[in-house]
Amino acid sequence: MLRRHFLSGALAAGAGVVLDPVNADAASPTYEEAVERTWGPIRTGRERFELVRFATLAANSHNTQPWTFSVAEDRITIRPDFARRCPAVDPDNHHLFVSLGCAAENLVHAAEAMGLRAEPDFAGDSIVVRLAGGTAKRSPLFSAITERQCTRANYDGKPVDNEALRLLERACVEPGVSAIALTDCARMKVVGDYVEQGNSAQMRDKAFMTELTDWLRFSKADAVAHMDGLFSAASGNPVLPAWLARALLRFVFTESGENKKYREQIASSAGILVLSTDANDRRNWIAAGRACQRFALQATALGLKYAFINQPVEVPELRPQFAAYLGLGVRRPDLVLRFGYGPSLPRSLRRPPEQVIA
Ligand SMILES: Cc1cc2nc3c(=O)[nH]c(=O)nc-3n(C[C@H](O)[C@H](O)[C@H](O)COP(=O)(O)O)c2cc1C
Repeated sequence: MLRRHFLSGALAAGAGVVLDPVNADAASPTYEEAVERTWGPIRTGRERFELVRFATLAANSHNTQPWTFSVAEDRITIRPDFARRCPAVDPDNHHLFVSLGCAAENLVHAAEAMGLRAEPDFAGDSIVVRLAGGTAKRSPLFSAITERQCTRANYDGKPVDNEALRLLERACVEPGVSAIALTDCARMKVVGDYVEQGNSAQMRDKAFMTELTDWLRFSKADAVAHMDGLFSAASGNPVLPAWLARALLRFVFTESGENKKYREQIASSAGILVLSTDANDRRNWIAAGRACQRFALQATALGLKYAFINQPVEVPELRPQFAAYLGLGVRRPDLVLRFGYGPSLPRSLRRPPEQVIA
């Protein structure tokens, strides 16, 4: 039944017909309405849109949502949208392809919930997700898709037990990807030192700061007007009119203040996870994205929060030193995440499916 819905939706897409009952009256929603449209539970009768919506709920760098989707009867293709790349923080598009991998992982779990078996494969610059009939199953990882968020807050300092750690490590199992989990304070503090060094380098880099500021959304209205970018409340920062926030930014957003914040956040976390890949290419970056998103969904299913602390892998001069500290040799450390028990913060938004279906 679900499959028939999906196929008829796909055919409508092929014919260029756009039917979207939920978003037909989408003019100027409030932030709260936009959160519900973005993160609400799966809606029946619009499977084609829902698969794409659930894919877009993945973590993605600066929330630029650097993707487009095309939908056919037996596949969904996820393509990079290079117009949304971030050349300062991500000059080689590493984060962009990791983000596509995160979206593919969400798609796999959403498809399974709709009775479809989804198999992503890297082809050219794109991910082709082949769809075939399967058994409908709403897994804990599927249920976590709409709950997951990157929580940039202090956590409560409580440790994670061994069984949960085992599940988190198992979630990272992906061909070509290795995971290192650090839970002892001394090693976490060293990673924190790298984060601070990286943060200082980035905050002194004019191009980095200009790019970051362009993606900041300071008020609810600003966030809803764009439906992308980094909403200040989602990072635990105050909500202000954009003109005022921009005028105050250099006084409140300081290198020493941010370094202190990262130190406290890491000290409050239960552990740190570093993902690295066998080869430094797009296929492996996508694999890292899939592992990272699966880790995030598993953490969420366990009631844990997580956040990226990628500064040591984003600053090119720091990355080899960080790799050496972790004993990675010539392997590239791809992603750095902290995790622990913590509060929920306001949600980030996503552009609706009809804006990303090409
Ligand atoms: C490849 C990649 C790199 C990221 N790097 C950072 C980072 O360095 N710092 C950070 O706070 N968030 C980082 N994020 C998280 C995104 O900012 C976040 O996913 C996005 O703003 C959407 O928010 P949400 O995941 O809470 O929905 C990264 C995400 C991805 C996929």
